[in-house]
Amino acid sequence: MSETLERWSSRRAFILAVTGAAVGLGNIWRFPYMTGENGGAAFLLLYIAFVLLLGLPVMMAEIMIGRAGRRSPMHSLAYLAQQAKATTHWRWLGAFGAMTVFFILSFYSVVSGWSIEFLIESINGDFEGLSPDEIGANFEGFLADPLRMTFNHSLFLLLTMTVVAAGISNGLEKLNNLLMPLLYLLLIALVVYAAFHDGFVPALRWLFSPDFDAVTPGVVLNALGHAFFTLAVGACALMAYGAYMPDHQSLPKAALAVAVLDVLVALLAGIAIFSAVFAQGMDPAEGPGLMFVTLPIAFANLPWGMLWLSIFFLLLLLATWTSSINLAEPMVATLQGIGLRRGRATAIVAVGVWLAGMLSVLSFSTMADVHWLGEMNFFDLVTTIPTDIFLPLGGLLIAIFAAWVLPREIALRALDAGPNGFRAWRAMVRYVSIPLTLLVLLSGLL
Ligand code: PFF
Repeated sequence: MSETLERWSSRRAFILAVTGAAVGLGNIWRFPYMTGENGGAAFLLLYIAFVLLLGLPVMMAEIMIGRAGRRSPMHSLAYLAQQAKATTHWRWLGAFGAMTVFFILSFYSVVSGWSIEFLIESINGDFEGLSPDEIGANFEGFLADPLRMTFNHSLFLLLTMTVVAAGISNGLEKLNNLLMPLLYLLLIALVVYAAFHDGFVPALRWLFSPDFDAVTPGVVLNALGHAFFTLAVGACALMAYGAYMPDHQSLPKAALAVAVLDVLVALLAGIAIFSAVFAQGMDPAEGPGLMFVTLPIAFANLPWGMLWLSIFFLLLLLATWTSSINLAEPMVATLQGIGLRRGRATAIVAVGVWLAGMLSVLSFSTMADVHWLGEMNFFDLVTTIPTDIFLPLGGLLIAIFAAWVLPREIALRALDAGPNGFRAWRAMVRYVSIPLTLLVLLSGLL
């Protein structure tokens, strides 16, 4: 496969695209409920440490490979392995990434579909005046209704695939230019709103005063998986975006900007959500339903509550849209790499992901008691294993390839941070990120 000629139109467009990939369900849905389930501030600290020590350097490694290869992830890895006179089996890492994003996108589309449903219900004012029990029952009722779930899952996937089919500069850039600034505005508005209500101070206290007794190897593994998930690292998805990176742009600066924006969104979303939770005296450890139950309850009886709730779900939908486009890209690019036209490649991916997503849809009704591994039904399985195991494992291999296999001159040029910057990055990846990921992964698994 020859080099791709497509490029992001500017440095800013690249940063927006990667931020769009990073900011999504991970920040707004997963971060609050994981923090809630894992004891609050200690989890937050671990996650931030992992973002800095592992996520960020590995993100640079991943984008660097894409930029140096300028092909689909699989083809970039094969091409660069050849340049390095290493085995071209490295290309299977690209296939592993494609499998990872396949499973992630399958549930991502289903949960993002929930936000479509809840956006419409909020706009209709359906939650107004309902009691907490009624709101809980509404969510349960929705989950138990495969038809409504299927409709929303399909609609979301259609939204995603329409942009993907249009191609990078045509589709995604235009969308990002509009969505990312809007997203920040909405989020800041929500936090300002939260600051005037009772739960704000308890939320801050809970988010920022750590209790280290709550930390177990499982919690550490969760924080590790989450750091990779939230930065969109470990599945070769950013590698696909790196292939379109402009020639003159410092990769560390871009990656740092993305990581800071990403953590900021999680913190802002966490403050907004936990303020609502504490204002109503509810349980932070509610699990995946946290946002979808506690927020409507919190807003149901507040002045202008439905307006703020609509804003929140709109925000979530926008954020998930740009992330799911990134999740689809490596699969589409790989199929394109073996000669398929973009439209056809997109259609094939869409059908496959839709089918797998249906197993998640049915995990809340007809297939709720079908256990695929231990006690886990399909939804439980796809929301844990690909994130907590496949992403760190993929990230580990990506880091090894970039820091140990890739020839120095190629890596140096792709990082675009001068010889000292390169040396610092490589030492960090070789002696901190790789051993630490390995350690946490093994201890979590054992
Ligand atoms: N970073 C996205 C989020 O936080 O929702 C999810 C994600 C996107 C994970 C792309 C992995 C990926 F390759």
